[in-house]
Amino acid sequence: MSLTFWKPGTAGPGSTLDRATESEGNVVQSAPNHSAYSIQAQRERLPIAKHREKLMYCVEMYGVTIVVGQTGCGKTTQLPQYLFECGWAADGHVIACTQPRRVAATSVAGRVASEIGCSLGEEVGYTIRFEDVSDKERTRIRYMTDGMLFRETLLDPLLSRYSVIMIDEAHERSLYTDLLLGVLKKHVNLLCSAIRRKRPSLRLIVSSATLDATSFLEYFTSGTSPEEATVVSLEGRMYPVEVAYLQEPTPDYVRKAAEVAWNINLEHGRGDILIFLTGREEIDRCLEELAELLPTLPRGASRLTLLALHAGLTTEEQLRVFEPAEQGFRKVIVATNIAEASVTIDGVKFVIDSGFVKIRTYNPTTFLASLSTVPVSLASATQRAGRAGRTSSGICYRLYPASTFASLSRTIPPEITRTDMTTPILQLKSLGIDDLMKFEWVSAPPAESVLRALEGLVSAGMISDNGRLTVVGEQVAECPVEVGVARMLFSSKEFKCGEEILTIAAMTSVQDIFVIPDGGAQGAIAELERRKFTAEEGDHLTLLNAYNAFKRYGQSSSWCKSHALSFRAMSRAVSIRSQLKKYMVRFGLPIESCEGDAKRLRQCLILHVHPTSVLFTRKARTGWVIFHELEETKKTQIRILTEIEPDWYVFKYSIANDDFHSFRIQLQCRLLDHGHKYQSRHNGATR
Ligand code: CDP
Ligand code: MG
Repeated sequence: MSLTFWKPGTAGPGSTLDRATESEGNVVQSAPNHSAYSIQAQRERLPIAKHREKLMYCVEMYGVTIVVGQTGCGKTTQLPQYLFECGWAADGHVIACTQPRRVAATSVAGRVASEIGCSLGEEVGYTIRFEDVSDKERTRIRYMTDGMLFRETLLDPLLSRYSVIMIDEAHERSLYTDLLLGVLKKHVNLLCSAIRRKRPSLRLIVSSATLDATSFLEYFTSGTSPEEATVVSLEGRMYPVEVAYLQEPTPDYVRKAAEVAWNINLEHGRGDILIFLTGREEIDRCLEELAELLPTLPRGASRLTLLALHAGLTTEEQLRVFEPAEQGFRKVIVATNIAEASVTIDGVKFVIDSGFVKIRTYNPTTFLASLSTVPVSLASATQRAGRAGRTSSGICYRLYPASTFASLSRTIPPEITRTDMTTPILQLKSLGIDDLMKFEWVSAPPAESVLRALEGLVSAGMISDNGRLTVVGEQVAECPVEVGVARMLFSSKEFKCGEEILTIAAMTSVQDIFVIPDGGAQGAIAELERRKFTAEEGDHLTLLNAYNAFKRYGQSSSWCKSHALSFRAMSRAVSIRSQLKKYMVRFGLPIESCEGDAKRLRQCLILHVHPTSVLFTRKARTGWVIFHELEETKKTQIRILTEIEPDWYVFKYSIANDDFHSFRIQLQCRLLDHGHKYQSRHNGATR
């Protein structure tokens, strides 16, 4: 295995791969060991520090400040601190900074708390769904997911707690970032009128890692006075990154990634390796390939610390990638595009880019949401390469030919154009935005998807015929879960099974409950353990069994271990359940048990199906199932499914038989076309 099949690319600074290696001498000078510097000195060395005065002036003078700067220049960690130091958090006000990703919100809050010298949850805190590490009285800087701030606008449309709202990573164009921008634009439009008079101090910062700030500027200045918004560009400090391409496309980029990482370790000096793959499965496979090679590591070579980074990990597991490698070790971090812009991992000198990303798409006609693997955009590929040049010069290995790079599309369509709009539309309605046509979308969702969402909401009784929210709709909008799950909680009243449905709702909000090692004796034992909870009716009831057993046996971690359950996931489910319970109590929903009547439970679950992205499909042999999530990549995986009688569904919604029939046919054809095999991760059975 050697690197001779690589050819140097043209996107680099022109030096050869060898030269890049020689320049390693610079690494020590340009990437100082952090512990050698005080935190204040480190802060002052960040590129953003030179722009502090200007930034603070713009925030003072303009309603909207758009900040553009390379990843790692200090936007996320420093800007909120500057604002804090300049008195923007006086009078009990809070500075909010939103992140599209959970892991970014938590890791950055931890970093800033340590820079300020407080414990997390005191002056600096974070809020993600079902986890609030902030203090109502004390917290001045609050990192939060964009979804959580959007939810807060439902309760307090003026966002009166906040003095400055920083919408970070705006270039990612996540669904809730777009919605927040739209809602805040409404504020900006009204700047001269009521809201500005009521909230003279509210300022907005939109920060982005790509240079394309003009679109945000145009968006915020259209229909308002141009004096309301301005752009500040932070010059980035970037070290040169050599780019190498494969000469031929590879049939298996996961294996290739492992191979290249292995070779880098043998042939290059210090520096950690960051590999971009598309999802958990690939990440695990790549780590396995590397782990298998470990026994063959020659004497004297750096040893490897193998790490995964993806959204399915717990917060603690995710934070492990930030710990520096031990003496004599080199970190290999195998990540999804989580590591592309929102988190900064120090010490990375080599990037291996598969060239692919997994995105969620939604087909409003079939209600079919799926994850598909697509080529990355030019912007992403460039951003990924940049991760190698943050603290010193680096190398990016693209696992595709240079010609492929040239053919990549510029950007990936914003999430709002490829997602189920049911929950967001309900929320917008709840905000009093009834005329969706007049809403100033940053990018409008497709008409078809808005229409389908509205239809679904009307048929579920959440929106009345005149387009207004009903009382139930209002309450469902307030619940911190998807419409489908909230709806299931509400319908538990009718089926007298609130107790169980509450548990199922909590359990489906948690990922990776079962810990099943792949293959081997351990895997087989774990599989047997899991079967103890298996309910014939399907996964929803299996989850319920697991939860009840966990409670019965005293919520112990050793019990979880011996039953192949993740203690952390189970504990999280307990916490989520108690949070959801408060909503049920508030809405007067009875929490009564169905006393083991599984049929009633399953009937209640069907209400879960419509009108959301939670789908159902035909079971291969006998009947119909509903499921919680569908993942469609090379094979189709269905997460959490339960068998149902189709009549229950038709009866419940009195859907015109024709519609139902054609929907069924469409779905079937689609699935047959692809020769899908249904696999339930929880039951393990092939359906
Ligand atoms: O937001 P932006 O990408 O502009 O940068 P940042 O996240 O504020 O990071 C600024 C610097 O803080 C980085 O260059 C890292 O050296 C450091 N940092 C860190 O050490 N640990 C973190 N969890 C986050 C940032
Ligand atoms: Mg950032």
